[in-house]
Amino acid sequence: MDARRAWLVRAAFLAAALRFAAQAWARPHQVNGVLGGSVLLSVALPPNARVKEIDWSFSAGAGATIQVAEFSPGGFERPDPGDRFKQRLEKFNETSLRIRALEPGDSGIYGARIKLQPAVVEDQSFNLSVYEPLPAPEIRSWLLSETPARCNVSLQCRVPSGTRGTVTWLNPRRDQRDLRVHPAGGGMLSVEVQPGCVNTTLTCSVRSGVEERRRSIDLLNVCWSGGEGIQLSCWTAMAAAILLGPSAWQLSP
Ligand SMILES: *[C@@H]1O[C@H](CO)[C@@H](O)[C@H](O)[C@H]1NC(C)=O
Ligand SMILES: *[C@@H]1O[C@H](CO)[C@@H](O)[C@H](O)[C@H]1NC(C)=O
Ligand SMILES: *[C@@H]1O[C@H](CO)[C@@H](O)[C@H](O)[C@H]1NC(C)=O
Ligand SMILES: *[C@@H]1O[C@H](CO)[C@@H](O)[C@H](O)[C@H]1NC(C)=O
Repeated sequence: MDARRAWLVRAAFLAAALRFAAQAWARPHQVNGVLGGSVLLSVALPPNARVKEIDWSFSAGAGATIQVAEFSPGGFERPDPGDRFKQRLEKFNETSLRIRALEPGDSGIYGARIKLQPAVVEDQSFNLSVYEPLPAPEIRSWLLSETPARCNVSLQCRVPSGTRGTVTWLNPRRDQRDLRVHPAGGGMLSVEVQPGCVNTTLTCSVRSGVEERRRSIDLLNVCWSGGEGIQLSCWTAMAAAILLGPSAWQLSP
């Protein structure tokens, strides 16, 4: 009974592994590009494979599949040079196609039918998504309260609505006890800062599949009217450390 169950588990596991492999094979390789930029579609082959020919095709949505390029050793042909790609397709090397000056309509599925020596045919596909270039994020700040000992600020990082991209605040270094940040969701951050030797620069990042843009804000531009106080107390703290340092040494046995 136990042996049979073990066998069943193994068979189920094997079936799942095979299904996964088949899916990975069939699923197009995801490639992301930025409007106006370029991308490389590179077929993956075992190192000893000898390529005879590669036929490249393109299909977008429900439209017909068109043949866009043909690679042969030392050769490159465009079956229809008047198609949507015009002069924008290039043979980068024997196994890669380059698309330049990307347009929104270039998004879609690209097929590569690879003919290998002596007589093997293999299909690979690429799912190209062309995105708008990311705008730089914008940071807004509100001074909530301020005493000589502490300043509370609310920050918001945002991008124009409709922008694809994830907004995140990059964590300041963990060991800064004079600077406490509390993420408040929606790109908001509440910050408490105390005067001291602390790096008061906070950075927000917007990231899409292809790009990242950052913007930083220095809290000293928000708190203590320009931060003379924080710098002064930083010098005081350093001077104290230098003066107290040796006596601290003497105290320890
Ligand atoms: C073609 O270029 C791609 C990308 O740089 C590289 O990965 C691939 O190995 C190259 N292939 C050949 C045949 O040189
Ligand atoms: C191609 O990528 C887009 C965007 O990520 C996705 O919506 C679409 O389902 C993908 N198509 C295929 C066939 O994988
Ligand atoms: C700043 O915020 C903290 C926690 O939200 C609060 O305890 C503190 O009193 C605030 N400080 C000032 C100066 O308002
Ligand atoms: C503060 O940290 C940022 C990165 O988080 C760095 O670029 C900047 O130079 C630092 N400023 C100082 C004064 O150390």
